[in-house]
Amino acid sequence: MPAHPSPLPSVLLAGCGQMGGAMLEGWLAHGLKPSVVLDRHSRTVPAPHTVVSTLDEIPAPFQPDVIVLAVKPQKADPVLDTLAVLYPQATLLSVMAGRTVESLTRRYTQANPKANPVLIRAMPNTPCAIGAGMSGLYAPPQATDTQKAHCAALLAAVGETVWVEREELIDSVTAISGSGPAYVFLLAELLEKAGVEQGLPAENARTLARKTLYGAGALLNQSPADAEELRRRVTSPGGTTAEALKVFMAPDAWPAIVPRAVAAAARRARELSS
Ligand SMILES: NC(=O)c1ccc[n+]([C@@H]2O[C@H](COP(=O)([O-])OP(=O)(O)OC[C@H]3O[C@@H](n4cnc5c(N)ncnc54)[C@H](OP(=O)(O)O)[C@@H]3O)[C@@H](O)[C@H]2O)c1
Repeated sequence: MPAHPSPLPSVLLAGCGQMGGAMLEGWLAHGLKPSVVLDRHSRTVPAPHTVVSTLDEIPAPFQPDVIVLAVKPQKADPVLDTLAVLYPQATLLSVMAGRTVESLTRRYTQANPKANPVLIRAMPNTPCAIGAGMSGLYAPPQATDTQKAHCAALLAAVGETVWVEREELIDSVTAISGSGPAYVFLLAELLEKAGVEQGLPAENARTLARKTLYGAGALLNQSPADAEELRRRVTSPGGTTAEALKVFMAPDAWPAIVPRAVAAAARRARELSS
């Protein structure tokens, strides 16, 4: 990806693991104003960006446009406590599951009663690592257009974005696109196993399953037709696909299972947030 003419806002990326690392790759490829990455595991980033292993090492003049919170939710509190002292007026973009705007703001202002942060939440997914991410974002009413634009630009650099109107809907985003890659990987696993059961060598079954999901996903992405229409186009009446779809689409099969699985994920997201 060539560097973009207008660089992304400067960032303090707090946590550079699976998700933070995936986003950072996209930002570096896009072009990012001088930024700082906090992670205790050794990492390198190209100049003018810097890596620190503790927040005390951040050069004093550094004022990020956006602080991105990408540590595990249970490890966030010590980071928030220090950030509240260093950056009382920060714009924070949290990609953490299960921490509400209210809980993050409360922690921040407990650590520094003079702090007045603005918290924006996002739920990205791991295809961000290849620029094909899908993120849902929520901003509370006090977020300014500039703060929202900065956060949206960061996530748009690693994929597509949608805004949701109410914070609870981040739990629905989590259940569809945040967890969704795992559902697709499960289908790949099961197709591969079924292929072996049908007598295919394991390596062939693996390639057939993976590339089918990849090709169908790419076609779905490019085609103006909706998913149902694309499905109909490969389903000749009385043919082989129709036989398989009778099994998948039985009332107690996918039409019941998929909403149930999504509801279970959303319920868990709500439990983690409470
Ligand atoms: N992975 C996903 O698919 C996904 C999708 C959407 C959202 N998220 C969210 O993204 C967040 C991060 O998840 P992840 O899977 O990327 O976690 P991760 O791989 O554990 O990355 C977090 C990194 O931050 C480091 N870290 C934590 N506290 C630190 C501190 N005080 N100082 C310096 N470094 C510190 C961790 O080091 P240690 O391991 O040593 O603590 C780790 O290297 C989570 O809140 C999750 O809800 C993840």
